[in-house]
Amino acid sequence: MSETDSNVGIEIEAGIATITVDRPKKLNALDNDTLEELGEAFQDAIFDDEVGVVILTGAGEKAFVAGADIEMLSRQGVLDGKQNSLLGQDLMDLIEDCPKPVIAAVNGFALGGGCELALACDFRYASENAVFGLPEVGLGILPGYGGTQRLPRLVGTGRAMEMILTGARIDAGEALRIGLVNRVLPLGELLPACRETAGAILSKGPLAVQMAKEAVRRGSLLSLKEGLALEADLFGLCSATEDMREGMKAFLEKRKPEFKGA
Ligand code: CAA
Repeated sequence: MSETDSNVGIEIEAGIATITVDRPKKLNALDNDTLEELGEAFQDAIFDDEVGVVILTGAGEKAFVAGADIEMLSRQGVLDGKQNSLLGQDLMDLIEDCPKPVIAAVNGFALGGGCELALACDFRYASENAVFGLPEVGLGILPGYGGTQRLPRLVGTGRAMEMILTGARIDAGEALRIGLVNRVLPLGELLPACRETAGAILSKGPLAVQMAKEAVRRGSLLSLKEGLALEADLFGLCSATEDMREGMKAFLEKRKPEFKGA
């Protein structure tokens, strides 16, 4: 694929990688090429030492991502249908497991696979025009990029069931009320707010941030006892870092810490 055909952009500035799904004519719908490009962009961000936080957004002012590409899905049979689901799930897992925090800047429609993409991020800020929904049952399918699993874990089974079984859309205000997003902002303030939060994260100890994310992510799959054991192990590991010494020394010396990620 030539660079001009690219459906995903990545810009890196001041420690923040902004990854943009850029297929505005199709409201940034995810075909398999776009999934692959997104995977590559996340791999780049994961292995780039300059990047501490990732912001994921959509191009234009109308859509974050309007879902998986329905034209592509309309051709699928049972076997490639399963593969399409697994391919999308792999990307969502990669985002969820990204050692660096990932903030979704939801700037419009986040439907089906677009809502699922936002759900794979660590937390979500939305513009006032954002619309969320899992409309798949209206297409004769179910959510296939993780929505049946991640939405109930985030907002509770009852609310998730209502959204999944009716396919109804909700606006940004309702998404805020049910805890699907953390903040709602005017469209022009969405990316600046995400960058401000990213900056706050970047000022902290990068290894501590990484381990805190891992504790929450891996812990959510474990029993409380196992999760607490994981937390204690990571806490112990943090204690071996120069960053911990620097963070505590700086506090005691009443100055700002200078973390090195070591
Ligand atoms: N796949 C493919 N193309 C899409 C698309 C999608 N998910 N969403 C929008 N588009 C295309 C439209 O077909 C249209 O293309 P053309 O100009 O070539 O006709 C273009 O984007 C603009 O869209 P609309 O004209 O429909 O714009 P609108 O403002 O009237 O409506 C919308 C906006 C409500 C988001 C509407 O486009 C829509 O309902 N889109 C589909 C949403 C959806 O059902 N998503 C779930 C997909 S299935 C899925 O995601 C499965 C999974 O879990 C893996």
